[in-house]
Amino acid sequence: MVRPSVLVTRRWPAAVEQQLAQSYNVELNKSDRPLTPAEFREAIQRYDAVLPTVTDKIGPEALDVSKPQTKILANYGVGYTHIDVERAKTHGIAITNTPDVLSECTADLAMTLMLMVARRAGDGERELRAGDWSGWRPTHLVGTKVSGKTLGIIGFGRIGQEMAKRAHFGFGMKILVQNRSAVRPEILKKFNAVQVSSVDELLPQCDFVSLHCPGGAVNAKMINGARLDLMKPDAFLINTARGEVVDEAALAQSLMFETIGGAALDVFEREPAINPTLAQCDNLVILPHLGSATREARQAMGFRVLDNLNDFFEGKAPRDRVA
Ligand code: DGY
Repeated sequence: MVRPSVLVTRRWPAAVEQQLAQSYNVELNKSDRPLTPAEFREAIQRYDAVLPTVTDKIGPEALDVSKPQTKILANYGVGYTHIDVERAKTHGIAITNTPDVLSECTADLAMTLMLMVARRAGDGERELRAGDWSGWRPTHLVGTKVSGKTLGIIGFGRIGQEMAKRAHFGFGMKILVQNRSAVRPEILKKFNAVQVSSVDELLPQCDFVSLHCPGGAVNAKMINGARLDLMKPDAFLINTARGEVVDEAALAQSLMFETIGGAALDVFEREPAINPTLAQCDNLVILPHLGSATREARQAMGFRVLDNLNDFFEGKAPRDRVA
């Protein structure tokens, strides 16, 4: 039997690339340069499967073909709002993602950001590297205590729950949850968490707010100026979800005028570009989309794609089929 042809749009962990090459007729992207929409269009007319990731903007332009050869977009990553799902469905293209395997590492990074911004770790490191530290003093870089505070989690899927586990059991935090559907009582009970009915109800009650909801049009600019004004003046916002969930211009205003305590972001509206006003704010910690960036998670994500692909081409239902 002829092996299906597969295009991998970015470099992947070597072990996964090797395994893919053993089972499929694979084209690797050795240069690791993101594909343009035109290149993507060409790819879906040529390969049986395309394995994209968050840097591939698969909108109407990229999917504007009459007869795609591609039968499956097996996405490397849990979020897939970069794919125009409805358009892909009209072509009968299946879509899979990679949940579970990155939840712990993404929650670890959200905790990292929360601690960094509360304890002014970025300020401290900048000061040291600039050679400006004059020594210990009682008033130096005084931050905010994390332990025992209230954490609001928006989006209580797998990553949100991992965040709750760390915050509740590690830091004794009180957990409030906002989620689009009702969370099962036994799940809330695990973290002694309380679900509130809206984002507006959650924000004024929290010392920290961490975003773990999907991106895409439905949640675009969910955290806007009006909602930032609902936060306590010393509260912190953490975003490891998707950049579009936060209105960056509004956040820059809140940080500049110190109407909130600070923010910590791993994701941005126009990655890899950073809003220049935002970048000037000292009460902001920024990381370059590192949520799942561990050897373990990145390899597991690749093998999860491989599982989905194998199932699909063996005529079975891939476990992570989302469309
Ligand atoms: C994800 O899995 O969605 C991460 O953000 C990387 O794409």
